[in-house]
Amino acid sequence: MTQIAQPFGVRIRGTGSCVPERRLTNNDLTKLVDTSDEWIIQRTGIHERRVCDPSSEGTFTMARDALKNALDMAEMKGSDLDLIIVGTVTAEMTCPSVAARVGAALDAIPAAAFDLSAACSGFVYSMNIAQALIRSGQFRTVGVVGAECMTSIVDYTDRTVSILFGDAAGAAILTRDPDPRIGCLYSAMGADGRGWDSLYIPRRAQEIPANDIDNPIALGNLRMNGKEVFRFAVTKFREVIEDAMSKTGLTPESVGQVVCHQSNIRIIESAREKLGIPKEKVYINIDRFGNSSAGSVGLCLDQLWRAGKIEKERPFVMVAFGGGLTWASGVWRV
Ligand code: ACO
Repeated sequence: MTQIAQPFGVRIRGTGSCVPERRLTNNDLTKLVDTSDEWIIQRTGIHERRVCDPSSEGTFTMARDALKNALDMAEMKGSDLDLIIVGTVTAEMTCPSVAARVGAALDAIPAAAFDLSAACSGFVYSMNIAQALIRSGQFRTVGVVGAECMTSIVDYTDRTVSILFGDAAGAAILTRDPDPRIGCLYSAMGADGRGWDSLYIPRRAQEIPANDIDNPIALGNLRMNGKEVFRFAVTKFREVIEDAMSKTGLTPESVGQVVCHQSNIRIIESAREKLGIPKEKVYINIDRFGNSSAGSVGLCLDQLWRAGKIEKERPFVMVAFGGGLTWASGVWRV
């Protein structure tokens, strides 16, 4: 999907995020599974992650609070929204959507609302779709959220997945702008469903592939072939960033921040080094928050925005990959 001259621009009016207070450190995990602080840090870059209190927190509450923070920054109210999109694969219910419940909680009635399932690519997919709907003239103000309570689908007896994931939500308020040069300059989305069984959350036993012979998981928990995902991601991540930069004429010098899905420090570092992008342009928070799937890019964006690191002069790139397998990028000028 390529953006060419359009009648409207799209302005990011506010960003927000929400993470639970509770921390789960690597040392905490050593009490649950056979692992070590050194192994986790060396293989993933993660020191700790945030985890919901299941009695009072989850995807819905984090999505609601992240969007409220973004509305506050934008000095807007829920009733100003005419669409809410929530990227998530951890909705508490398949119906209603998290987005509809968030709309009700923030008085965003009768804004349209739907959830988008693209796993870790969920926030970038949602931003791409939201901006296209605004540019087309169909919607004026859209609340975009990526929210994930990964701890609700992680099996804490499986050391290959439990060490990676944390809970978080990130949000942005997008509005129509008369200046068509503002907003998303280029976006791309893709999927290769042939690799679906590298990362899946089965609800029925018959969905578990016959070759997944050592599958110890309970239904409803995330199953991941870490090696397969790593192999896919390490190439795809670089390709997607390279594509976004070359299509917009950006270079390692002229690009602003590259806001990456926090999958694994080694995947991010490998792409950064191969593309020659300076370290200070690739934000990392996986050490403190782990991999929060669709929550991660929105969380990074909000932290960068509030730190004044998203510059007007330099377009920034968002990039993610995840279950599906899916991938997405967006290049934005603010
Ligand atoms: N602690 C200690 N040892 C471990 C652990 C653990 N938690 N997990 C695995 N090991 C062991 C393995 O058993 C293996 O032992 P062996 O050599 O005796 O057989 C050894 O460590 C190496 O295991 P690998 O699986 O090869 O480890 P790898 O370096 O590939 O790291 C990891 C595993 C971190 C999961 C990596 O493959 C990865 O990050 N993959 C990508 C995952 C990812 O990004 N997922 C998110 C996708 S986004 C989304 O949509 C949700």
